Amino acid sequence: MSNLLEVRNLTVSYGTGAPAVDSISFSVAEGAVVALLGANGAGKSSTMKAICGVIPASGEVDFAGSPITGDPARRRVAKGIVYVPEGREIVGDLTVRENLVLGGYQKSAAERRQRMDMVLDLFPEIAEKANRSAWRLSGGEQQMLAIGRGLVADPKLLLLDEPSLGLAPLLVRRVFDRLAVIRKESNLAIVLVEQNLAVTMRLCDELHFLRGGRIVGHRSAEALRDKTARQEAIDAFLGAAAA
Ligand SMILES: Nc1ncnc2c1ncn2[C@@H]1O[C@H](COP(=O)(O)OP(=O)(O)OP(=O)(O)O)[C@@H](O)[C@H]1O
Ligand SMILES: [Mg+2]
Repeated sequence: MSNLLEVRNLTVSYGTGAPAVDSISFSVAEGAVVALLGANGAGKSSTMKAICGVIPASGEVDFAGSPITGDPARRRVAKGIVYVPEGREIVGDLTVRENLVLGGYQKSAAERRQRMDMVLDLFPEIAEKANRSAWRLSGGEQQMLAIGRGLVADPKLLLLDEPSLGLAPLLVRRVFDRLAVIRKESNLAIVLVEQNLAVTMRLCDELHFLRGGRIVGHRSAEALRDKTARQEAIDAFLGAAAA
């Protein structure tokens, strides 16, 4: 089976210093969850932004067997690549429902309605508050809304940037339980950026460790089920940043 996403030698430079992402290569099989782990500033968000096309990058990105390197962000969304940014970035002054509509702006009205119904079924917490301003949601509910808005676009690949950020442990579990449901029920592939290894392990198939813009290690989730192996990987690839 060919990969859904192929990233080759992806490089992102913001200025004259060392590149933020330095010749990264990895792939994501259809329906797979691949995690990127690393300390603050390792280049995780920059990698995601380059894949979805909101920042310029060099290197090659193939999606569903074709190069998308020259595609602008909106064409990548139409092809099924959807980014859920770190920090949620929902529109507080709009209602929950209006935020979901934004996610499906490239869909027909009928398709959008169907996707929104699916999302509200998946996240009953926000369905109850569909007509409220989004700023009135709790942090966890805002994260559900951000993920839900991504899902309305009917992605084939969801780029999820730190969905656990700022959430209490109970809410983290709830959000990740819901992601596990989506995984089981669809063929959605996910690139997951997380600093929390324990949470990441619940969902992913493989993990890449980033440091200074480079991939410094790769493990299957299977290989890290063992506690000692997990600690070794943390020590080797994440160091004190994982504490
Ligand atoms: N818009 C920008 N302009 C200049 N430098 C940037 C910009 N965005 C990120 N950087 C730099 O690029 C490097 C990688 O940042 P990036 O946001 O990709 O890291 P990250 O792994 O997502 O970190 P975090 O865990 O803190 O979210 C950092 O050194 C950061 O300072
Ligand atoms: Mg980041």
